[in-house]
Amino acid sequence: MAASEFQSLQGMSDIRAPEIYLWRMIEDEARKLFNCYGYEELRTPVLEKLSVFKRSIGDTTDVVQKEMYAFKDRGGRELAMCPEGTAGTIRHLAGCGEEGLNARVFYIAPMFRCERPQAGRKRQFHQVGVEATGEPNPLADAECIALQQNLLEAWGLVGSKIQISTRGARSDRQPVADGLREALQPHLNNLCEDCQRRIDENVLRVIDCKNEGCAKIVDQIPSALEFMAEESRQYLDAVIQALEKMGIEVEVNPKLVRGLDYYVHTVWEITHDALGAQNAIAGGGRYEIALGKKAVPGVGFAVGIERVITSLETCGITAEQFAPKGGIWLISLGEDALAENMKLARQLREKGNRCGMELADKSMKAQMRKANREGAEIVIIRGEDELAKGTVVVKDMEDGSQEEMNLEDVIRNA
Ligand code: HAM
Repeated sequence: MAASEFQSLQGMSDIRAPEIYLWRMIEDEARKLFNCYGYEELRTPVLEKLSVFKRSIGDTTDVVQKEMYAFKDRGGRELAMCPEGTAGTIRHLAGCGEEGLNARVFYIAPMFRCERPQAGRKRQFHQVGVEATGEPNPLADAECIALQQNLLEAWGLVGSKIQISTRGARSDRQPVADGLREALQPHLNNLCEDCQRRIDENVLRVIDCKNEGCAKIVDQIPSALEFMAEESRQYLDAVIQALEKMGIEVEVNPKLVRGLDYYVHTVWEITHDALGAQNAIAGGGRYEIALGKKAVPGVGFAVGIERVITSLETCGITAEQFAPKGGIWLISLGEDALAENMKLARQLREKGNRCGMELADKSMKAQMRKANREGAEIVIIRGEDELAKGTVVVKDMEDGSQEEMNLEDVIRNA
């Protein structure tokens, strides 16, 4: 079999120990914190109808146009693997009546985007995300950003920055698009090929084009915020003020667009210098997603776990710190002791102890070596003598001391 037979698909990784210990810490801390903020867990299917994503994320976005794993199933239905968590979450909540319109849910789930893999950009990645539905309220947006900050702190992540902006209300979309188009018109021939197309299709995308020439032009024209209604700018100011009261610093970046069409009003992104070109750890914002006759308003964010892990490593936080440690290792001298230790291991494990043993008859030296490798804190040794007396030898691996103890006492105190 060729080596490639054993490899996962490009841009998709197998995740195992020791790295998995960091994943578990991230998930455990997130669940604890979401509970404090009153968020319940939601698990939606990986597959959804393609229309769920097209309608909410937007037909002209990169995610929908270029990055989705979309296909027809045997019944000819158009399906897609979720590229993000908001669309599926709102699809679910929209079907929950009144309760769904005032809900707080979180998800920890794999997402799929068929992008060109590079550092920090994967085809299967994982998000920790939250969505809170409810009418627009700057305090809800500020609380959501505060939750996100708490989350990064709970993981031990330092050195991240929040950039914030606004997409304005729905009614601002046309004036903003018209204003930007007019301002860009004199520079049309100097924009990159993509942007010459984008200017008609989705002019906001010109604003966050990474091409240097386009960025220079964008610096010369008025920002999108200047074409918005006064109330929309006031909404952003109210979010920033609420954040200041909570001691959370943000940088206003009017060029922050976010590549998903469902956003209205507040949008934000968290970046970390450790990440290089793909430097966004998290993104979020307020949105309005129309489903059937309903337009569901909400606010939320998603953090990319892989990127958090890369950033944590630069903060000196490693997977090994969260590896399970200690526990008991049973050493069996002879076949009878081996059989009896199987029973003892079961009793110790039932009481919640991490307990291991060799399942074959091996030398004392080999068994001790294994106990050391496993990082056992305590070793329990049993041979024929101990079996006859109903005792075991208990060795403390830290200080090397050992004593013979009654088996029943050891089980009772375990
Ligand atoms: P997003 O900015 O597309 O937003 O993704 C959120 C985060 O997922 C990114 O900041 C990044 O950390 C991670 N991410 C995205 N694509 C990749 C990739 N190809 N490889 C590795 N990590 C990636 C959303 O998905 C919105 N649903 C967030 C949201 C929730 N807005 C409101 N509610």
